[in-house]
Amino acid sequence: ILEDADIVADWAARFVLQRVTQFAPGPDKRFVLGLPTGGTPLGMYRKLIQFYKEGKISFKYVTTFNMDEYVGLPRDHPESYHYYMWNEFFKHVDIDPAQAHVLDGNAPDLVAECARFERLIQEAGGVHLFIGGIGPDGHIAFNEPGSSLVSRTRVKTLAYDTLEANKRFFGNDISKVPRQALTVGVGTVMDAKEVMILITGVHKALALAKAVEEGVNHMWTVSAFQQHPQTLFVCDEAATLEL
Ligand code: GLP
Repeated sequence: ILEDADIVADWAARFVLQRVTQFAPGPDKRFVLGLPTGGTPLGMYRKLIQFYKEGKISFKYVTTFNMDEYVGLPRDHPESYHYYMWNEFFKHVDIDPAQAHVLDGNAPDLVAECARFERLIQEAGGVHLFIGGIGPDGHIAFNEPGSSLVSRTRVKTLAYDTLEANKRFFGNDISKVPRQALTVGVGTVMDAKEVMILITGVHKALALAKAVEEGVNHMWTVSAFQQHPQTLFVCDEAATLEL
């Protein structure tokens, strides 16, 4: 538990820096990182860009997998997660574009695209560190309430609460928010060696309480991580109001 969202961002970026540099990735030894989008991790990305510019970290031998992507939103739409990742992070660092994987929400065969993504993660040897955020309804990635806790990457219809929470990015017009997304499953994230979940703001307080103080429950999918051997919840004071 840290004081505020800025300190959470700083802490999370330092954690990534420490893990990547300690691993010392190279051409035959890539560090595999799972990445989230949303408002919460923005500060962490800014800090990581700063570390890169200061020569403290390189992403040359880092492979990334993003958690999710909207279905049917053009890649260059400012709210697509593809656009977000390139704009907010990838274009500012030395990552190899071929190693920065974001699900393609416009693939002609979405089921095959999800299977391809799972295969790529396997071929990369699994994820060393998966970073995530949560929705106010306790979803991780787009694993909406009721999702199977052993789910894999798949197409998911978004819950009304998620459309409501994300309409702020679509001119406050809920009809503009895509109705479906591709998302890694809870099981996909559970397979990572280490997981770090960032939770800030009083609007996430109920979700955090459900996640850590009640039983593992598919209606609050992030609660599954109680059973992960190496998961860290990094929160600000505001998010802990219900604990
Ligand atoms: C979306 C994403 C999640 C993200 C959540 C919270 O639903 N699919 O991966 O964690 O938003 O976003 P924010 O950080 O903006 O609150």
